[in-house]
Amino acid sequence: MRSDSNSDHGSGAHDSAGATPHVVLGVAGGIAAYKACELLRRLTESGHRVRVIPTESALNFVGAATFEALSGQPVRTGVFADVPEVAHVRLGRQAELVVVAPATADLLARAAHGRADDLLTATLLTARCPVLLVPAMHTEMWQHPATRDNVALLRSRGVVVLDPASGRLTGVDTGPGRMPEPAEIAEFARLLLERRDALPRDLTGRRVVVSAGGTREPLDPVRFLGNRSSGRQGYALARVATQRGAHVTLVRAHTAEDLVAPAAVRLVDTGTAAQLREAMLAEAASADVVVMAAAVADFRPAETIAHKIKKSDSGPPPLSLATNPDILVELVKNRPPGQLVIGFAAETGDEHGDVLHHGRAKLDRKGCDLLVVNAVGEGKTFEQPDNAGWLLGADGGQLELPSGSKALLASRVWDAVVARLD
Ligand code: C5P
Repeated sequence: MRSDSNSDHGSGAHDSAGATPHVVLGVAGGIAAYKACELLRRLTESGHRVRVIPTESALNFVGAATFEALSGQPVRTGVFADVPEVAHVRLGRQAELVVVAPATADLLARAAHGRADDLLTATLLTARCPVLLVPAMHTEMWQHPATRDNVALLRSRGVVVLDPASGRLTGVDTGPGRMPEPAEIAEFARLLLERRDALPRDLTGRRVVVSAGGTREPLDPVRFLGNRSSGRQGYALARVATQRGAHVTLVRAHTAEDLVAPAAVRLVDTGTAAQLREAMLAEAASADVVVMAAAVADFRPAETIAHKIKKSDSGPPPLSLATNPDILVELVKNRPPGQLVIGFAAETGDEHGDVLHHGRAKLDRKGCDLLVVNAVGEGKTFEQPDNAGWLLGADGGQLELPSGSKALLASRVWDAVVARLD
C-alpha cells in the first residue's frame, strides 16, 4: 500500500507551503470512538491536517460537531454530500495516511470485501497510501473466524491492522479487543508516514525479548542510584515487533510515567540490575531475538542499608560501590544456537576516537550480533521522542539510522534482524 500521491496528484499530498501531510481519520461505531478525539488532538497538535470521516454509527457515540471543532474541517459520512467534489476520490487521493480508529468488526468486514457503502469505505478504496486499522471490539468478535479471516485478508494486501490490547472492555468483561491507547496509535501513524511503507508481518511466530528503562540500585529504603533512561526506545522496539507478528516479552525497569504499555505485549517488571538480569536470563532461554535496550547501572551501592540513612554533623557517609554484572555479555555467552542478540551503546567521541570507533570496540567487547550506537549529550537521545545513530553488525556491516521517531529506528533495527534471521 504505497502512495504515489506526490507525483500523481500534484498538490495533493503536500500543500504549497510544502508542509503537513493529509491524514484521514476514519471512526467506526464502537464505544472506543471517544478515544478518537484524543487521537485527533494528537495528530493535529503534531502538525497534521486531519479530515475525520466517521461512519453513521460512530455519530451515536461522538457528535460531528466535536470532530469538526477539533479538526477544523467539515465532517460527512455519506458520498451524497458535496457531490460535485466527489469527496471520496479527492480525500483518498490526497491522503498520505488513512487511520481508522476504532475499526469495528463490521468496518473490517466491509474494508476486506471492498464495500463502498459510505464515505469511509469508499475512501479506503481510493486511497493508495499506507492504511492503519485499529480494531476495537469484544473478544468474541475479535476471535471469530470471520474477523480473523478478514484481518488476514487485509494484512495480505499490506494494510496494517494493529493487534488490540487485552484489558477492560465495555462493562465488566476483559480480554483481547481493547483499542490501543491514542498515544500508541499516534506513534504508529507517525511511523507509517516516516517509513512511507507498510509494516510487514515478517516476525510472525518469532519470540522476542526486549529490555527497557533504567535500573535503580537502592542505597536505603528511600534513595537509589538511577539514570535518565525513559524506556521509550525499548517500548518502541517491543511495540513495532509485536505489530510485525512477534510474540514479545518486555522486561522493564523504571520508565517515564507518561509511557503507555504496548498493546499485545507480555510485561515483566523489574527494578534493580540483579532483578533485570534474572528476568532476562530466564526469558532469553527460549527466544529467537534478545534486545538489551535497558540502561543498566554499571555500579550499585556495595551495601543496601535497611533504614533511612540519617543526616549527621560528621558529614555524608562514605559511598562504596560494587560492579554489576554485564547482562549483555552473559546473554551472549548463554545464548541458544541461532539466537540473535542486540545491544545498545550511548557514546560520545573523545581524544581516542569518534562515536563509531568506540561503538565498534564495544561491539567486539560485548560479542553481540548487532549494536545500535547513539551519539549522546547536548539533548540527544535521552528522554527525547526522536533518535538517530548507527547500526553496527558483527559481520562488519554498518548502517546509518537517520533521525526520526524511536519507532522508525526500531523498525530499521527489525529490518536488519529479519534479514539476519532469514
Ligand atoms: O557498557 P555499556 O553500558 O555502554 O553497554 C551498553 C549495553 O550493554 C546496553 O545494551 C546495555 O543494556 C548493556 N548492559 C548490560 N549490563 C550492564 C551494563 C550494560 O547488559 N551491566
